[in-house]
Amino acid sequence: MIPLSVPNLTGNERKYLNRCIDTTFVSSVGEFVNKIEAMVAEKSGSRYAVATSSGTTGLHLALVGCGVQRDDIVIIPTFTFIATANAVAHCGATPWLMDISEATWTMDAEQLEKELLGKTVWDNNKLIHIESKKRVAAIMPVYTLGNVPDMDKIKDIAEQYHLPVVADAAAALGADYKGKALSEIADLTVFSFNGNKTVTSGGGGMIVGNSETLLKKLKHLSTTARVTAEYDHDMVGYNYRMTNVQAAIGCAQLERLDEFIEKKLEIRSFYRHAFEDMENITLFPDMKYGKGACWFSGVVLKNGGLEKIREICNKLREKGIEARSFWKPVHMQKPYEDAIKADTLSVASKLWDCILTLPCSTNITADELEYVAKAVREVL
Ligand SMILES: Cc1ncc(COP(=O)(O)O)c(C=O)c1O
Repeated sequence: MIPLSVPNLTGNERKYLNRCIDTTFVSSVGEFVNKIEAMVAEKSGSRYAVATSSGTTGLHLALVGCGVQRDDIVIIPTFTFIATANAVAHCGATPWLMDISEATWTMDAEQLEKELLGKTVWDNNKLIHIESKKRVAAIMPVYTLGNVPDMDKIKDIAEQYHLPVVADAAAALGADYKGKALSEIADLTVFSFNGNKTVTSGGGGMIVGNSETLLKKLKHLSTTARVTAEYDHDMVGYNYRMTNVQAAIGCAQLERLDEFIEKKLEIRSFYRHAFEDMENITLFPDMKYGKGACWFSGVVLKNGGLEKIREICNKLREKGIEARSFWKPVHMQKPYEDAIKADTLSVASKLWDCILTLPCSTNITADELEYVAKAVREVL
């Protein structure tokens, strides 16, 4: 079976894991968990980094750190992995769902501007969503597949409305925005090192940013807000710190980030050339104004539908190829039926069940790519 996306663990992973066992540092203290923070800070151009047990806990913590509270609203795109919305819900807040732009599959900044203008008022220095009467507390754009949205515009809007920006950059480590480091374009940026990401720590996440006060607070909160070794805690904290074992794998992976991103770009470009003459599909969007991280690759059917995607996946499976559909938008998910919605979510609604993700592991061979392309052409 040629898998969709599996970790490539042929570097120093084993060596570093053995060191954790030999030194008995397997929990949330140790050389690797400190080292991974320094590595991710460097690779994302950030001053500070806080390692978390997952991308989801990182997002939750980042929102808490930005002051999001129960009954608040956080603006997110509807087209995302459900963890983005879950992080909002874990704060007791409600997502306000925006559509995406066709060009990048990321939050539609024009729509964001219109929605805020038409549906909010200032009341006692609070930005209130008129219909729900809830406070709007933050904007959380998602860097879909490693593509960054129009952050110049989103940042302008955020400044105008005094909203913090927490970027869900789960799969975007290695990307940039108009040559700028990711840490320069949001208040906090959160990565995931889940098993299917370009670099993995088995499970894990990282919050990066340039505010020392805020990042120190987040680290404190992530380690049960412990003040002294004598079980003294000054806030309701979380047990969200990454372990040294996770970090050991992550450090070995990060040593190869550039190589892995190169491979992801090559895979994207291979599929582009392999399918460019086909009329019944289009390809995944590439960012025009910066370096994307090309987390996943695949094709978009002009006439899709989940049934059709399933049928194609089954046929490819018979040929030894794993392929899958992609994110079902948040507004179509049962737990978020009551989320606040922008006037239209039509781009995401039309797009999601036309997407077919194809094998894109960083260890896929040239022969395997040729085989996948041939099989996809036959099946389509
Ligand atoms: C866009 C997005 N947000 C959040 C997450 C959550 O990260 P994690 O699985 O590490 O909790 C993921 C991936 O898993 C993701 O793709």
